[in-house]
Amino acid sequence: MQRPRRLRRTRALRALTRETYLAPEHFILPLFVHEGQGDLPISTMPGVCRHDLPGLLARIQEAVDLGIGSVVLFGIPDHKDALGQESRSEEGVVQRAIRSVRARFPELTIIADTCLCEYTDHGHCGPLVPDSRGGWTVDNDAALPLLAATAVSQARAGADIVAPSAMMDGQVGAIRAALDQAGFGHIPIMAYAVKYASAFYGPFREAAGSAPSVGDRASYQMDPAGGYREAIREAQLDVDEGADFLMVKPALAYLDVLRVVRDTFDLPLVAYNVSGEYAMLKAAAQAGMLDERRSVLETLGSLRRAGADAIMTYHALDAARWLREDREATRPVRTTEVAER
Ligand code: PBG
Repeated sequence: MQRPRRLRRTRALRALTRETYLAPEHFILPLFVHEGQGDLPISTMPGVCRHDLPGLLARIQEAVDLGIGSVVLFGIPDHKDALGQESRSEEGVVQRAIRSVRARFPELTIIADTCLCEYTDHGHCGPLVPDSRGGWTVDNDAALPLLAATAVSQARAGADIVAPSAMMDGQVGAIRAALDQAGFGHIPIMAYAVKYASAFYGPFREAAGSAPSVGDRASYQMDPAGGYREAIREAQLDVDEGADFLMVKPALAYLDVLRVVRDTFDLPLVAYNVSGEYAMLKAAAQAGMLDERRSVLETLGSLRRAGADAIMTYHALDAARWLREDREATRPVRTTEVAER
């Protein structure tokens, strides 16, 4: 009789035959930096703060000590306006943060989220123009040069990767051309290629103060019920425009999309385990409904199994800590050591 259970009998056998694994170098830690003083907690994301510069550097030190090699930075400016000017200012909140982090951690991979919604007073990812129905819509082509200028300013500050998340058509091509022209041909683009208009961004928008003041993002982010053809088309366009990484976002309700993108394209693939997905497990754990450690590691593991190379996750610090503990606890020990335990 075939007995698959033979390979599950011991910890070491299970580890030997495991098909996917998690490690801290797979994680990208998202961090918020604001212009005020102190670390301000985000009520919908227990354990996550809006950092000031010293707080940001301290948090990154923790991450680096746990073996995490990459962070993605989101800036929250004091001043927001219709065009999101602060997104591309040399003295902007994220540009200053990138410079300090770069100076302190020369080897860290610094990813800059390239978008306007944290910087516009209306919370949309590009400038608004009146539409034909008496409402407002985002002007795609007017957003492109603003996004390109934002990416160049981030690269100039010292970002290793820019990550455009605005879901404007042509944004990857516009950013690639601008980076090349400014002498940043070596800076890769991590394209939020397949990004859905999701309810799971709610806590992030509280954190960044970027909830749209009029309308929603459904006219540029993807329809959650959309299928694989649309996902492939979005990813293909970003590949053609020069993307170096592809991303699927959110992650959990889109594991099937991750798998399809993995099987269709050969670029490195990132899964963004977004704020609402984090909040969901945190809330359940705090209510005593789930074992946080096991449910988080199982969840992150599912993203690797679905095909993600890298995972953006607010759980990165906890997960890296748990993985280290597991590693220490699962080393095969001598009989004398077993007795000592
Ligand atoms: C910017 C951006 C958003 C997120 C990442 N980049 C917000 C949005 O699209 O509304 C959300 C990430 C999260 O929920 O953790 N456009």
